[in-house]
Amino acid sequence: MKVEFRNPRISDAKRYLEILSHPNFTYFPAKPKTLKEEQDFLRMMKKLQKEKSQYNFAVLANGKHVGGAGIKINQQFPYICEIGYFVDHKYWNKGIATKSVQLLEKFIIENIDIVRIEIAPAKDNIGSCKVVIKSGYKKEGTMKKYLKIGDVYHDCCLYAKVLR
Ligand SMILES: CC(C)(COP(=O)(O)OP(=O)(O)OC[C@H]1O[C@@H](n2cnc3c(N)ncnc32)[C@H](O)[C@@H]1OP(=O)(O)O)[C@@H](O)C(=O)NCCC(=O)NCCS
Repeated sequence: MKVEFRNPRISDAKRYLEILSHPNFTYFPAKPKTLKEEQDFLRMMKKLQKEKSQYNFAVLANGKHVGGAGIKINQQFPYICEIGYFVDHKYWNKGIATKSVQLLEKFIIENIDIVRIEIAPAKDNIGSCKVVIKSGYKKEGTMKKYLKIGDVYHDCCLYAKVLR
């Protein structure tokens, strides 16, 4: 399966809403409720991309829009960034998130002066923990009650990769 990135468009909002609204997205905090909310989010992302504080990509698999991936620069320590990704549940377990991590790292190495990449999946997000381990990230610890989804706090694992 060919996985590639393109810049998100405001017209992607409907597809993002469809992907992110699925109940299988147990450990993902971004749950847009309306098309307008997602359009506003995409507009804000465009602004943050111009300011070089966040970079977001639409993930395509064989040309079809199946997910999203992004990079958030740490505002206090700009040599550190956090990455994130999500994939339409119909396309899970085909290596798309793992390939997206490779593409994010390629973008980071070629475009941003980053020393350390972090990601903190919920401890029970088995699929995401597997993606980061497969991608060579090292577990540095557990962050208790780091992620709040609805009224529930989840423990997260801090994983990191040092580039140089
Ligand atoms: C987490 C997520 C991005 C993974 O995407 P994906 O494209 O399916 O990931 P990959 O196919 O690259 O790798 C997933 C790995 O986890 C494994 N896996 C998934 N669920 C599993 C489970 N319940 N138990 C054991 N292994 C599991 C897969 O078998 C695969 O490993 P393998 O290649 O060794 O077989 C996807 O499930 C998702 O979008 N979830 C909702 C959003 C989210 O949680 N994003 C991450 C926030 S940190």
